[in-house]
Amino acid sequence: MQPLWKTGAVYQIYPRSFCDSNGDGVGDIPGIISKLDYLADLGVKILWLSPIYKSPNFDMGYDIADYYQINEEYGTMEDFDSLLLEAKKRGLKIVMDLVVNHTSDQHPWFQKALKGEEPYHDYYIFRKGKKKDVPPNNWTSMFTGPAWEYVPERDEWYLHLYDKAQPDLNWHNPKVLEEVENIIRFYMDKGVYGFRCDVINQIYKETLEDGKGIAPSGRGSEHYLMKEGNHQILRKLYDDVFSHYEDHLVVGETINVDIPNGQRFLANNELDMFFSFAHMNVDKALGGLLPGKFKPEKLKDVLYQYQKEIPWNALYFENHDQPRSVPRFGDEGKYRDASAKALATILLTLKGTPFIYQGQELGMLNAPDKDPSTSLDCCAHSIGKLIAKIPMTKKMRFKVLNSFDRDRCRAPMSFDGSENRGFTNADKPWLPHAKDDGKHNVLEETKDPNSVLNFYKKLLKLRQNHDEFTLGEFEPCPTKGALFAYRRYHGMSSVLVLVNLSDKPVKLPDYLSKIGGALLLSEGDIVDRGTLPPYGVRIHQLS
Ligand code: GLC
Ligand code: CA
Repeated sequence: MQPLWKTGAVYQIYPRSFCDSNGDGVGDIPGIISKLDYLADLGVKILWLSPIYKSPNFDMGYDIADYYQINEEYGTMEDFDSLLLEAKKRGLKIVMDLVVNHTSDQHPWFQKALKGEEPYHDYYIFRKGKKKDVPPNNWTSMFTGPAWEYVPERDEWYLHLYDKAQPDLNWHNPKVLEEVENIIRFYMDKGVYGFRCDVINQIYKETLEDGKGIAPSGRGSEHYLMKEGNHQILRKLYDDVFSHYEDHLVVGETINVDIPNGQRFLANNELDMFFSFAHMNVDKALGGLLPGKFKPEKLKDVLYQYQKEIPWNALYFENHDQPRSVPRFGDEGKYRDASAKALATILLTLKGTPFIYQGQELGMLNAPDKDPSTSLDCCAHSIGKLIAKIPMTKKMRFKVLNSFDRDRCRAPMSFDGSENRGFTNADKPWLPHAKDDGKHNVLEETKDPNSVLNFYKKLLKLRQNHDEFTLGEFEPCPTKGALFAYRRYHGMSSVLVLVNLSDKPVKLPDYLSKIGGALLLSEGDIVDRGTLPPYGVRIHQLS
């Protein structure tokens, strides 16, 4: 039996923005339950929920104050149990977010650690400063700025690789490992299918020596990215806990992961798959600091490299940290639907587990640009402080700041064309809705046979019914520019996928234009067999 994560696709729910059941403007668990039929009908099998634990929401739930409680806004543990039950009835599995590089500074462990109480004294990474007013080392936070905060209570500094409201746990302390194992067991025993492990390749700080260079963010990472101790911890979580649950999923969010470490995560059962960032950097300039130009061939090269070298990929174009993919890698104007479908085709036909971020199946866009000072995203504010020091025009600054604002992709899900898009009955949702034409929502797209939504359904069915897509090998066909062409083969059968990720028609190379075989799926007007229209898609059964 193949594990479900090889055959089934994942849908990411950002609970705060998915569906609000009680009219307070914030999504919640009963809201999710009310949409399970929609999700089952879409054809996904696994739902990953961004954090729903008790949290002051400084980083929107990625700052946990109690791993054993559900944040009140989202409901209760009983609601969560009903979600598990209702999901199960529909053949859906639930994956939770495991955020254990850090906790919230409101977590009782941290509060007690501040007072020096045992056994919490060493749950976090406290050190004396180099001198008064000088932190223990020169590391910078992933959100920019110093990675240390001074606390007078202990006359020490604590490490935070993210915001200062997110103190890093001390993974040299065996008690921390024990706590985390208990948390995992608690949810697995409830019937949770697995975890998406937040920034999991940076939890183990090998040394606290100064970092090299002048990096405004992540300086020092050579001392904590994917160290031997990190691999060993993940393997231990597998041996002690995960290996006791038959079919389960552990997917790591792995910042700046490289191919050798990625291969090791998989080969050694440390993770089932991991999110690489390589393809998210193809449209960035200045080491990721500024938005750059998107070239489809760059995306293709990176994706193909991972297809060839990593036995199983976590495939994604969107999540709660990244801008929407249509305006980013496609076209939000004339070719909005076509480009959404082209991207969907790549996502769902490459080798690995596809992750669909809520609303992606509708071709949703980002929220409109806004005054950056009104953002609710803590990261956008710290990047804002950094960018304030770089000279640029007002207009450019506005654009750059908005490009980093994670609020944009967190705009509420669009269920219908009403004022609040069927997300809430409140006067005001917690975030304004995305750019919209009133047509890209569940209600309208369900009715339209040519909608992005119905295309996702078709593709998910196709993927489910053809082992080539789920279990097959990947073989690229040599092509230039924006044309993606690859074969997926399993046993004796094989399919050919052709996608034009550009707004210009592309001529197929001779050897591809002659290909016969039944057409399993095609999008875009066929002018002639040798040409793929803008954002056109064709999938052939070869044998
Ligand atoms: C991950 C999350 C992101 C969060 C960060 C710190 O990257 O996806 O939303 O801000 O970790 O927990
Ligand atoms: Ca609510």
